[in-house]
Amino acid sequence: APIPPPDLKSCSKAHINPDKEVTYSCRPPIPQDIDSVPYYKFPPMTKLRIRPPAHAVDEEYIAKYQLATSRMRELGKDPFDPLGFKQQANIHCAYCNGAYKVGEKELQVHFSWLFFPFHMVFVFYERILGSLINDPTFALPYWNWDHPKGMRIPPMFDREGSSLYDEKRNQNHRNGKIIDLGFFGTETQTTELQTMTNNLTYMYRQMVTNAPCPLLFFGNPYPLGTDPSPGMGTIENIPHNPVHIWTGDSPRQPNGEDMGNFYSAGLDPVFYCHHANVDRMWNEWKAIGGKRRDLADKDWLNSESFFYDENRNPFKVKVRDCLDSKKMGFDYAPMPTPWRNFKP
Ligand code: C2O
Repeated sequence: APIPPPDLKSCSKAHINPDKEVTYSCRPPIPQDIDSVPYYKFPPMTKLRIRPPAHAVDEEYIAKYQLATSRMRELGKDPFDPLGFKQQANIHCAYCNGAYKVGEKELQVHFSWLFFPFHMVFVFYERILGSLINDPTFALPYWNWDHPKGMRIPPMFDREGSSLYDEKRNQNHRNGKIIDLGFFGTETQTTELQTMTNNLTYMYRQMVTNAPCPLLFFGNPYPLGTDPSPGMGTIENIPHNPVHIWTGDSPRQPNGEDMGNFYSAGLDPVFYCHHANVDRMWNEWKAIGGKRRDLADKDWLNSESFFYDENRNPFKVKVRDCLDSKKMGFDYAPMPTPWRNFKP
């Protein structure tokens, strides 16, 4: 059977690691009509939101994005406002740090085939941002780490004093430092050019060589009743996890906060930009062809999650309704994918 939306009333304390609890509750507000939360209906669109590569946006875009994010931070002063920035981060905490149960078991949306669809819907965040600046075409930028031009923290996130900045990042990885997409905590001693070449090779391996069929790409089956974390797909493993670890402030924070831990990752605005590119990889993977297509398993297609929309209305959504980004109202501004030529 598919994973149903979590029992909202069951949300208890999340934990950072087995012996450490998150000190605050990351439970989302409980809707009044808890038993009749509707399924999401995609509004008829007039114009697609086109997500731009984050390194290439202009100042006008940055100003809008900053304004929307600071409004969201402002709303976050009310801990019960589902549109507040802290609440957005808490969604991730609730779904990933053991706060929810489904059936008898803990719910974990990582390390399984729920990884892609869960985060895809989470990034509905962009609708909230757009509504806060009355711009129904606002689109999140994607952190284009699979292209040499995007292999660093996108500059707009690295300006101190901006609402897009977050203190809790590794200070050695700022100011244009080239990211290592295979980073699990050890700094590599290579030239920038070599790091970029290695990154393209990782991308080829994770998108092409190691992911010729759906389960290898999406992750292992996670139907209701199985233990959490049955095994992750290629992209979740690398580069998704290294980008988190590389960005988080492990030199100064106890648990890699913010980006390096599930409970805190959403407190860094760059999280959503990172996941916009993870989602983009889903489309790019299908575009490679062969057996690279969405899973047909009903337990995947009918799994559900729960969110709030930009009007503060709760909704549920099934995986089957998140398979086509254009139907969901957005697409990506194209960028070349040079890793396709990096067959090792
Ligand atoms: Cu839910 Cu990038 O993690």
